Amino acid sequence: MDRKYVTETVLADTAGIARGVDILRAGGLVAVPTETVYGLAARADSEEAVGQIFEAKGRPAFNPLIVHVLDIAAAEAIAEIDERARMLADRFWPGPLTMVLSRRPDAQLAPQIAAGLPTVAVRSPAHPAMRAILEGLGKALAAPSANASETVSPTSAAHVLATLDGRIDAVVDGGPTERGLESTIIALREDGRWSLLREGPITRQDLDSVLGEETPSNGAIEAPGQLARHYAPGKPVRLNARHAEEGEFLIGFGSVTGDVTLSESGDINEAARNLYACLHWAREAPQLRIAVAAIPDEGIGKAINDRLRRAAAPGS
Ligand code: TXA
Ligand code: MG
Repeated sequence: MDRKYVTETVLADTAGIARGVDILRAGGLVAVPTETVYGLAARADSEEAVGQIFEAKGRPAFNPLIVHVLDIAAAEAIAEIDERARMLADRFWPGPLTMVLSRRPDAQLAPQIAAGLPTVAVRSPAHPAMRAILEGLGKALAAPSANASETVSPTSAAHVLATLDGRIDAVVDGGPTERGLESTIIALREDGRWSLLREGPITRQDLDSVLGEETPSNGAIEAPGQLARHYAPGKPVRLNARHAEEGEFLIGFGSVTGDVTLSESGDINEAARNLYACLHWAREAPQLRIAVAAIPDEGIGKAINDRLRRAAAPGS
């Protein structure tokens, strides 16, 4: 892809945050750490700035973006916040929960954000660097994960630069992200039902405990980004491996020791944090194929297994 920019790397200190805010205010693109993965931020109210997100990532126009806000009051300016949304925000914001809600007709949002849907996805991130930028700018930010479309999500500034160097104005380096997996996405429907659109750090049980059990969706595709093959490390991936076969780079877990290991002690939160870094290493390794040890399908393990199934999906 063409290099259009000289990408600056700044630290997540006062000067770096101020630089990020200036670039964003002027309509530029800045990769910013969140507690989940790095996001590629642009002013949500600027059609031109948001258009550049799609261009830099090579993201298809049908895939809508998450709008990041400081708090529930800022969310109220763009989405219809009902009692359920308020309860979820009270419990899980700031944090790794994205809510898909009805969009307010007067929301100041670039049209590409919703990709033609009547809804909008909103989240209030917890990472201090992202919060400082939202506060300094005083505006909502559209931000998908800061990686080229259909590549592994970034959990460090180096991962961002691996696919976006020369395609964005700056990256704020805040070190490795804490959760390591993208936010949970829940759709709250006007008829009172809800459904889980993407597994993540906030589990189905966490949501059930606030809302009562999930009602099945009507089968419509509601998170367009979930359709495409994502998280692709660019090599075939074999799951539930006990050892490496010839030509495989093994990602271990617990008693399965690999070339790299998600968590030697078998801690699934540590595994979530390390997952994308391990996939980045696997992509760069000389072996042509990747094998991954089994991960328990509980808690955030469900989200890890969701991402691994996508990474292993054939095609593309
Ligand atoms: O943790 C995260 O959510 C990270 C950080 C940066 O906040 N962001 C992230 O964005 O993962 P992205 O663009 O990689 O994934 C957003 C997902 C896509 O699958 C998209 O289709 C879905 O959210 N989405 C966005 N708006 C939607 C809407 N109105 N209805 C349904 N799905 C939506
Ligand atoms: Mg993404």
